[in-house]
Amino acid sequence: MAEYDEHQHDVLVIGAGGAGLRAAVEAAAAGVSVGIVCKSLLGKAHTVMAEGGVAAAIGNVDERDNWQVHFADTMRGGAYVNNWRMAELHAKEAPARVKELEAWGAVFDRTPDGRILQRNFGGHRYPRLAHVGDRTGLEMIRTLQDRVIYDKVDVFMEFTVVDLLRDGDRVVGALGYDRERGAFHLFKCKALVLATGGIGRVYKVTSNSWESTADGIGLAYRAGAELIDMEFVQFHPTGMVWPPSVAGILVTEGVRGEGGVLRNKLGKRFMFDDIPPLYRNQTADNEEEGWRYTQGDKNARRPPELLTRDHVARCIVREIREGRGSPHGGVFLDIAWIKERIPNAAEHIKRKLPSMYHQFKKLADLDITKEPMEVGPTTHYAMGGVRVDADTQMSTVRGLFAAGESAAGLHGANRLGGNSLSDLLVFGQRAGEHAAKFAKQNPAGRIDPQQVEDITRRALAPFEHASGGTGESPYAVQRELQESMQELVGIVRTEDEMHQALEKIRKLKERAQRVEVDGNRMYNPGWHTAIDLRNLLVTAEAICRCALERKESRGAHFRVDYPERDERFGKVNMVTRPGRDGSAEVRMEPIREMPAELRQIIEAMK
Ligand code: FUM
Repeated sequence: MAEYDEHQHDVLVIGAGGAGLRAAVEAAAAGVSVGIVCKSLLGKAHTVMAEGGVAAAIGNVDERDNWQVHFADTMRGGAYVNNWRMAELHAKEAPARVKELEAWGAVFDRTPDGRILQRNFGGHRYPRLAHVGDRTGLEMIRTLQDRVIYDKVDVFMEFTVVDLLRDGDRVVGALGYDRERGAFHLFKCKALVLATGGIGRVYKVTSNSWESTADGIGLAYRAGAELIDMEFVQFHPTGMVWPPSVAGILVTEGVRGEGGVLRNKLGKRFMFDDIPPLYRNQTADNEEEGWRYTQGDKNARRPPELLTRDHVARCIVREIREGRGSPHGGVFLDIAWIKERIPNAAEHIKRKLPSMYHQFKKLADLDITKEPMEVGPTTHYAMGGVRVDADTQMSTVRGLFAAGESAAGLHGANRLGGNSLSDLLVFGQRAGEHAAKFAKQNPAGRIDPQQVEDITRRALAPFEHASGGTGESPYAVQRELQESMQELVGIVRTEDEMHQALEKIRKLKERAQRVEVDGNRMYNPGWHTAIDLRNLLVTAEAICRCALERKESRGAHFRVDYPERDERFGKVNMVTRPGRDGSAEVRMEPIREMPAELRQIIEAMK
C-alpha cells in the first residue's frame, strides 16, 4: 500500500494562475474551505507571461465601445463556432471584473484624466486592453495572490496532480505528489476546479513555460469529462526566433498595438497584401492611415498588423516559405521606426514596452528602440479544452469545474489577444462561485482506496521499469512528440501529415508505457517528465483527431487540402471523449441556436 498525507477542503483548485486564484478568492468569499495545488511557486504561473493587457469594454479611450461590440468582435474572431453564451457573459462581465481588480490594488496605466488606459489589439474594434505597460499578467497575479493569502486559502506549492478520484458520477478528490520530496498526497474535496492553463509543451516551439503540459485536459479526460474544440491551437504571430535557446518566447502584440509594423527582408509591409474580406472595411490600406489609428484618430482604420492572430501568423509563414523571411527564419517586427514620427521615441518605447526592451537587450543583445526584432509564430494558446457549462463552468462530470485556458468554448476557432486575461477573471469568478455552491449542496463523497492504489502504482511504474532495463527515456518520447506535432499538425495542416502524426502518437503511447527513470523520488525531473507524458499524449491525439474531422479551414485551423471555410462546419463543434479501446473518440455536435437578440448584435456590427 502506498503511503500518503491527507488533506481535506470543500473546494480544491488545481492551478494558481489567474483563473485558479480568482476561483479560490470567490470560493473563499462564499465561506467554504479552499485549497490550491500548484505545480510551480505561487506567483510564478504562466499568466505572468500574458503581457499586453486585459480586454474589457470599459470605453475609457473610445466611448463607442460597449459589451455588444466586444461580444461581436469575440464571435467574429472565433469564426462563429464560439459558445455564444460564454461570449455574452464574458463581454458583459469583464468590465466589472477589471474594476474590481483595480479596487483590490492593481495599478493600471492611466489616461491623462486618471482613468484606466486602454490600448489597441488585434481584432478588437476599439482600444480595449486595460494594461500595465507590458506586464499586465504579472500585476494581475500579484493582486490576486495578495487576496488569496489574505483569505487564508491553503496553498500547496510545487505539487503535481497525477489523477482525479471519482465516486460514481462525481469527482471527489485528487492524488498528487510534491515535486521536491516525491511524497504522495491525497486531496479530498466536495468540488474541484481545474485551472491548469495551457498545452504549449505539446509543441516544440512555444511561448508557454515548462508547466504548460496540458495537465487539466489529461486529468479531466481520464476522469471521463468531455473535451471540445481541440483542433483549434493558437500560434501567436510573434515569438522570438533568435538565438535558438530563446526561440518561442512571446513578443507581445502590444508592440503592434503601439505602432510596431511587420516587414519582410525586402523591407515591404507584407500585411497590406492580404486583408480578409470580413475585415476590409475596418482595415487601413495605407501606412499613413494605420499610423493615425495607432495615434488615436477615431476616424482612421486599423493597420493590418492588428488583424486577428490566425491571419497574421499565416501571412508570416507565407513570407518565410516564399523566401522573404529574415536571416534566422522569421520576419522583422519594427517599433524603432516610430522615431520618424514622434519625439523621444526611445523613451516612449521603454516606457510602454519595458519588458520587451529588456527581453531583447538581455536575450538577443538587440536594442528595440534602434533595430527591428526578428519574430515568427509560436504555439501560444489552446482554444480547446474541457467542455463546461457556460454559466457554472461545471464540466460534464459532476463536481468537476474548469476555468481559464483549460476550459473551452469562449474563443471558438481563434482567441483575440487580451481575451484570455478577461476570460480567467470572468470564468474564474464563476467557477469559484459555483464550485462553492456545489460543495455546500453535496456531502463529501467516498474515496475508493483501490483508485488511490492504482494511481500511485501507475505513477511509480517508471522506477519499476528501470530495474527491467526497458531503455525508454521520457525525454526522448517527449521530444519526439513535440517535433512531430510541430512538423505535422502546426499552422498549416494536411490529411496525410495528420495521419502520420496519429501513427507516431500511437507508437509514442506504447513507448510511454515503458519509460524508465533512475534514482529515487526526490528532485527527479525525469520522473516529472514521465508523469507529464500521459497528458501531453492524450492532448496531442485529441488535437489530431479533431483536426482530421474538421475538413475545412477556420480560425487557427488551416488545411491546405480544404483551404476554404465550409458553412456546414460552422454549425458544429468537435467533442472528444475517451473511447472503449483507449483512443479518443470524436463526434460532431450541432451548436445550440443563438437567441435572436444576440444574432441581431452581430448583424448590426457587420
Ligand atoms: O501578445 C500578448 O501580449 C499576449 C496576450 C494574450 O495572449 O492575450
